[in-house]
Amino acid sequence: MTFLSLPGAPHIAYHDNALYVEGQRVDDLAEQHGTPLFVYSTAAMREALAAYQRGFAGRKLHICYAMKANSSLALLQFFARQGCGFDIVSGGELERVIAAGGDPAKVIFSGVGKTRAEMRQALRAGILCFNVESEAELEVLSEVAVAEGTTAPVSIRVNPNVDPKTHPYISTGLKGNKFGVAHERTLAAYQRAAALPGLRVVGIDFHIGSQITEVTPYLDATDRLLDLVEQIEAAGIPIHHIDFGGGLGINYNGDTPPAADVLWQQLFARIDARGFGGRQFMIEPGRSLVGNAGLCVTEVLFLKPGEEKNFCIVDAAMNDLPRPAMYQAFHAIVPVQVSNTAAQVYDVVGPVCESGDWIGRDRNLAIHAGGRLAVLSAGAYCMSMSSNYNTRGRAAEVLVDGTKAQVIRQRETAADTFRNEILMK
Ligand code: LLP
Repeated sequence: MTFLSLPGAPHIAYHDNALYVEGQRVDDLAEQHGTPLFVYSTAAMREALAAYQRGFAGRKLHICYAMKANSSLALLQFFARQGCGFDIVSGGELERVIAAGGDPAKVIFSGVGKTRAEMRQALRAGILCFNVESEAELEVLSEVAVAEGTTAPVSIRVNPNVDPKTHPYISTGLKGNKFGVAHERTLAAYQRAAALPGLRVVGIDFHIGSQITEVTPYLDATDRLLDLVEQIEAAGIPIHHIDFGGGLGINYNGDTPPAADVLWQQLFARIDARGFGGRQFMIEPGRSLVGNAGLCVTEVLFLKPGEEKNFCIVDAAMNDLPRPAMYQAFHAIVPVQVSNTAAQVYDVVGPVCESGDWIGRDRNLAIHAGGRLAVLSAGAYCMSMSSNYNTRGRAAEVLVDGTKAQVIRQRETAADTFRNEILMK
């Protein structure tokens, strides 16, 4: 068996042929709470965060967890307790932060399409900074702030036109993307921001994409960003903080992204050489904090041999795990209990009525109907992107800490899924 380096190891590992998340046997959790079931390791999240903290040791750093990766309240609570702020992209996410006991004063608000109502809500909550993504947004935000009798702290998201070399749907820092203000327009945008009565310039930021596994795109974007900081400050507009966004990738399938501390060691070599090492820094990591801290346990309903393909039909589906259908993403799939069953090659698919409802293709698995599989690297962009398609309730979630396990989300019932619907009169 080549289970030695499971994504999520060492906290997700086999002991005596049974898969464990920290001190909890995954089969026991599934028995107790049913499937599909998301299970998260607290230790894995703590370690992922520590890698960033090491990388920034001795620096002024504010970490804003990009909660879109996984916005379950208990996870937000965990990061808030570790001192993190949050990168939000909607008024709904702000409400989640507050519901989880997070501090709005540590929140930054990204996104290309903030509504006036969301701007007002965030101003009233007293967030740290708006990451503004267009010149039009500057005008509207200023208007809303003036009407509220206040000023909005702003950072402009620069589109550095750098190729992050990742999937096109999650690449955001190229000219053709909808995100940020073009590099060439940035100085003019800052001059406008400084002149508007409702704005207060506090920072600058970029975010070039997600699941980035190389250092070079970050180095290139950093160089371009620092060029801009020099220009903007030379024009008399001080930049208090520099925000490098998120984007660091994880190991899904033998990917080898740099560890967060290694990435930052390399970036600081450049930043220090350019004389910016003493600045206030911010980052917005999402996936790299939670992705490999989670798995999704699913039960095998049927094995369906075919002429061209063998199907392994499981009780999790594209509504629980949308990444394969959306991005042809790879998630490792392993048995929860290693058995002597002969291995066969299967397409692992869910019950949803779409051919796009697959979770893994051509996987060699020793499994039988009634057995359970774990879909790995499922901590990020799975539950937060899940849906009720086919009137499937969202899965339950369990957070493990050592030998303790706690349900942090109850399984949704069908009634939950149509609670807000109204029959005709
Ligand atoms: N900051 C901003 C402004 C972002 O748009 C994102 C992610 C992040 C931070 C966090 O990026 P991360 O560290 O997680 O890479 N659903 C896709 C990923 C979409 C990422 C969107 N933006 C997926 O499942 O791969």
